Amino acid sequence: MARRQTVGCIGTGNMGSAFLTGLVKARLVRGRDILAWDKNRQRLGELQDQLGLRPARDNRAVAAAADVLLLAVKPQILDKVLAEIRGSLKPGCLVLSVAAGYPTALIEQLLDGQVRVVRAMPNIAAQVGQAATAICPGRHARRADVKLARRLFESCGSVLEIEEGLMDAVTGLSGTGPMYVFIIIEALSDAGVRMGLSRRDATALATQTVLGAAHMVQQTGRHPIYLKDLVTSPGGTAINALYSMERTGLRAVLMEAVETATRRSRELGRPVSNANGG
Ligand SMILES: NC(=O)c1ccc[n+]([C@@H]2O[C@H](COP(=O)([O-])OP(=O)(O)OC[C@H]3O[C@@H](n4cnc5c(N)ncnc54)[C@H](OP(=O)(O)O)[C@@H]3O)[C@@H](O)[C@H]2O)c1
Repeated sequence: MARRQTVGCIGTGNMGSAFLTGLVKARLVRGRDILAWDKNRQRLGELQDQLGLRPARDNRAVAAAADVLLLAVKPQILDKVLAEIRGSLKPGCLVLSVAAGYPTALIEQLLDGQVRVVRAMPNIAAQVGQAATAICPGRHARRADVKLARRLFESCGSVLEIEEGLMDAVTGLSGTGPMYVFIIIEALSDAGVRMGLSRRDATALATQTVLGAAHMVQQTGRHPIYLKDLVTSPGGTAINALYSMERTGLRAVLMEAVETATRRSRELGRPVSNANGG
């Protein structure tokens, strides 16, 4: 970001606030160079206290001042927000959207112009600077826009460039992914408690196990199956546990969950009103 440029943010909930916090922590933007608006005044006020950002009068005021504008409202209300800011966008503004399922073409169409859009799919781990984010450019975005978007989202974790046709799959896998892992950690913790461990110890052990296994995959660059073989000694505990997991279909459960979330992401991108969910 060039100095003195303004980052605008519409929606300062889970994702908007994580993104802005990442930017300020990474010193990519100063709090006073952020202009934001959220329907929920309390949320906006809390973020103002934390980051020193400037609260705007309304969404139009954010759009009119932003050199980079983040759209961080639920996909179900994005049509309405785009209609509201249409015609107010500062010339040359780069629009970033994190809305699940919402295509860049629809944003371009509803903003009625040659607007430069980069779509991103981060995940909730952005709140601790550990998101897995995928980004893709819209029709009018330039190479420099994608590079800037990458730099901004890297303040919240790692970034992968991907073609837009795969964004719903990304939403199903990593966008929704922390939920799968939260449930796995909770289930492992329950399992430990069932076997006699205290809740505190079981949760600590389950959490560190997930973290350690993820680090091993990342740092060794080995295929997970190779690492699995390191643990499964003949007739041992791991191979017996694996048999039980395969018999009860854990792999299929996860594959179905990702497929379901991917399908839902596709539905959310339709311009018809999607009343529920997200
Ligand atoms: N959460 C995730 O794990 C995740 C992951 C990847 C991508 N995303 C995407 O990130 C976007 C935001 O999700 P989120 O989880 O951050 O949602 P959120 O926590 O509900 O934040 C959205 C905020 O926007 C506010 N809002 C509603 N209508 C508005 C309007 N017209 N103008 C300005 N602000 C308005 C909401 O206020 P009220 O609560 O008062 O309505 C809320 O504070 C979504 O498009 C989602 O697909 C989320």
